[in-house]
Amino acid sequence: MITAADGGDLTPVAEAVYGAVQAGDCVYLEGPIGAGKTTLVQACARMLGVSEPVTSPTFALAHLYEGTPPVAHLDLYRLGEAAGRDTSDLLAYLTEDVIGFVEWPEYGFGWLPAATCVVRIGFDDDGTRQFDISPSASRL
Ligand SMILES: Nc1ncnc2c1ncn2[C@@H]1O[C@H](COP(=O)(O)OP(=O)(O)O)[C@@H](O)[C@H]1O
Ligand SMILES: [Mg+2]
Repeated sequence: MITAADGGDLTPVAEAVYGAVQAGDCVYLEGPIGAGKTTLVQACARMLGVSEPVTSPTFALAHLYEGTPPVAHLDLYRLGEAAGRDTSDLLAYLTEDVIGFVEWPEYGFGWLPAATCVVRIGFDDDGTRQFDISPSASRL
């Protein structure tokens, strides 16, 4: 568990994630609206050399950024309202050469690749953000 003060440096969290993933991997980001999932992807993308601004893919559902390796950022929240939508275009972002970050992975059940790392973001009693990082057994 890593604790980060509000507005604090997320580099230690991003480093812990990168200790557990490589290109072709998929990171699930869990936590309520406003937990800081998109903000963490911004910190992780920056660390891979992404220079473009990283914005929430809430409406586009997926964004791809040039980095080393490239970063695919999916937010499946709105898929919850679109049962039956063809998701092959979203799956196509998660290629062997990118690191994928997925917000609301529960809405990708059945087609989303398994996570190689799950990050759960919550708050302690003081409202401080807590990042629980669980690599899959294959990446320990
Ligand atoms: N580590 C953080 N420190 C301070 N503010 C944060 C942090 N993470 C997120 N926020 C703020 O909380 C709000 C929601 O963050 P966001 O990353 O969009 O959450 P989510 O993607 O989980 O819904 C934004 O206004 C953002 O600036
Ligand atoms: Mg978000």
